[in-house]
Amino acid sequence: MKKVFVNGYGSIGSRIIQFIADDKDIEVIGVGKYSPDDKVADAISRGFHVYVPKAKTDAFKNYKISGAIEDVISQSDLVIDASPGGVGYENKKTLYEPKNVSAIFQGGEKIGGDESVAGLIFNSRVNYEKAFDSKYVMQGSCNVTGMGRILQPLKEKYGKKLKRFDATLLRRWADLEDSKTQVKDSIEWTRKPHHNEDVKSYMGADTPLFIRALKVPTRQMHVHLMDIRFDGPAPSAQEIIDLYKNEYGVATLYNAKGTKDIRDYAESIKFNFKDTNMIHIHADVTEVQDDTVKLTYSDDQTGIVVPENHLLMQAMLFKRKREDAFKHTEELFHMEEKKKLLQEHFAKK
Ligand SMILES: NC(=O)c1ccc[n+]([C@@H]2O[C@H](COP(=O)([O-])OP(=O)(O)OC[C@H]3O[C@@H](n4cnc5c(N)ncnc54)[C@H](OP(=O)(O)O)[C@@H]3O)[C@@H](O)[C@H]2O)c1
Repeated sequence: MKKVFVNGYGSIGSRIIQFIADDKDIEVIGVGKYSPDDKVADAISRGFHVYVPKAKTDAFKNYKISGAIEDVISQSDLVIDASPGGVGYENKKTLYEPKNVSAIFQGGEKIGGDESVAGLIFNSRVNYEKAFDSKYVMQGSCNVTGMGRILQPLKEKYGKKLKRFDATLLRRWADLEDSKTQVKDSIEWTRKPHHNEDVKSYMGADTPLFIRALKVPTRQMHVHLMDIRFDGPAPSAQEIIDLYKNEYGVATLYNAKGTKDIRDYAESIKFNFKDTNMIHIHADVTEVQDDTVKLTYSDDQTGIVVPENHLLMQAMLFKRKREDAFKHTEELFHMEEKKKLLQEHFAKK
């Protein structure tokens, strides 16, 4: 049985390990913690073995620690790195490469340049099979992942008729559980957002995509305002909405008031971590003007990349057929059921 270690137990790592622990095809060896805080006890109480850096062992003496991260990595077939952005690169150089262990990195890392973690950004809708023979792959960030779910169906249906994608990303300031970051009363702009190059890396360098990104004071999801320009008159809004009807991880909602409305509903029906794990097209504010479709969708920041990591893991460890991998991910994440519930709750009135 393949052994998987999750390095990092923050917003992303804690979700990944919780879901993949139920996967009978792998053995989850444990999780890496770096600070001796409440989350150590939380991980242990959920039945996970916690490993810590050798040099910090003393700081964790009040907890039942299972061993050193440096040692457990040598026993792993795959590490899912869920460290803070940029630290994944350091881990690759100091741990994964020297120990010859495969790894998945998260979207806060870079591909290309001096601190590149991988040659590929994964998006299950676009390049699932490309991960088969890769030792190191980066899972796109939440915004980058959501955008692939929108762009790829458009590209397949309309091809050369698509002239330009102008997207404004309204990014959440911090995550729900992130008590360290204060949400400031400000709107901040991002110079040269990484999302543009990240999306083009898997959609194709010639993708006519232009992104602006603003950070807004909320913890409740991202919203993308995507203007899709056609060469000639644009299709109807209904045609665009129909395009996403059967897309995995895309729900179409009509009467949500805002992102918190969706999060509250997810919490009320006890979705794990209050996550929907998907993007939500807001059909009531999607409009067409001349040659342009103005699409609005929200993106569940922490949830969306978690099933993606599971799909990527299956591609790297088992080279599983794409449709079998999706079926298996569905058994753990129940996204079809979540989509149905969301669409019923936020249906057209
Ligand atoms: N949050 C999101 O919505 C989101 C969405 C998509 C992608 N991502 C990406 O996912 C990655 C993780 O983000 P996050 O939000 O989960 O961060 P986070 O909540 O700050 O958690 C980071 C975790 O990494 C641990 N850590 C510290 N040093 C480490 C090291 N040297 N090696 C491994 N782990 C280490 C921390 O441990 P201690 O707490 O024990 O110090 C903490 O558990 C980033 O690349 C981020 O860009 C985040």
